[in-house]
Amino acid sequence: MNLLTAVIAAVVLEVCCAHMCMISPPQRGSMLNLNKAGSSDCVLTTPRCGGRPRGMPVMGLRRGQNFTVSFQKNLDHYVAATPGSFTVSIGSERGGTKLNVLANIPDAGEPSLTVYSVNVTIPMDLEPRREYIMHSAYITNNPQAPPEFFQCADIMVNE
Ligand SMILES: *[C@@H]1O[C@H](CO)[C@@H](O)[C@H](O)[C@H]1NC(C)=O
Ligand SMILES: *[C@@H]1O[C@H](CO)[C@@H](O)[C@H](O)[C@H]1NC(C)=O
Repeated sequence: MNLLTAVIAAVVLEVCCAHMCMISPPQRGSMLNLNKAGSSDCVLTTPRCGGRPRGMPVMGLRRGQNFTVSFQKNLDHYVAATPGSFTVSIGSERGGTKLNVLANIPDAGEPSLTVYSVNVTIPMDLEPRREYIMHSAYITNNPQAPPEFFQCADIMVNE
């Protein structure tokens, strides 16, 4: 491998994976180095919660309540030919259950570190006094990148 090939390979590796972190509600586990593109806390690709274990609920939300969810595109890998998107959902972590998609935000090619905020309404048909996950996903639609990145926050849904 000559030097130029090595440099190109390094650059390709550097940009290979889009990353996403959920800031509000705060995601499971740590959330370090958000000011830098490529934070290792934002590169979770294991469904449904990035492989991070469930924790205590970080907050309670009422059914019918409006709440602003904020997440960060930590590393961009937009492709103009096949733009991706982000989803914000609520539901259970159990595989086989369906997540209730509350918002769908197109990836319009914003740069790395862009923070997106979306207002969602907590659905009335959830069971009160139960724990749920607030789930966000970055669907890259980029053949050179992992198809999806995930983050979850553990929340309690109240009456
Ligand atoms: C939530 O926001 C919607 C508009 O998106 C509004 O119609 C509704 O009244 C709000 N609900 C509460 C409880 O504030
Ligand atoms: C969310 O709702 C609040 C309160 O109604 C409003 O001020 C804010 O602009 C909304 N944010 C977005 C991203 O729509």
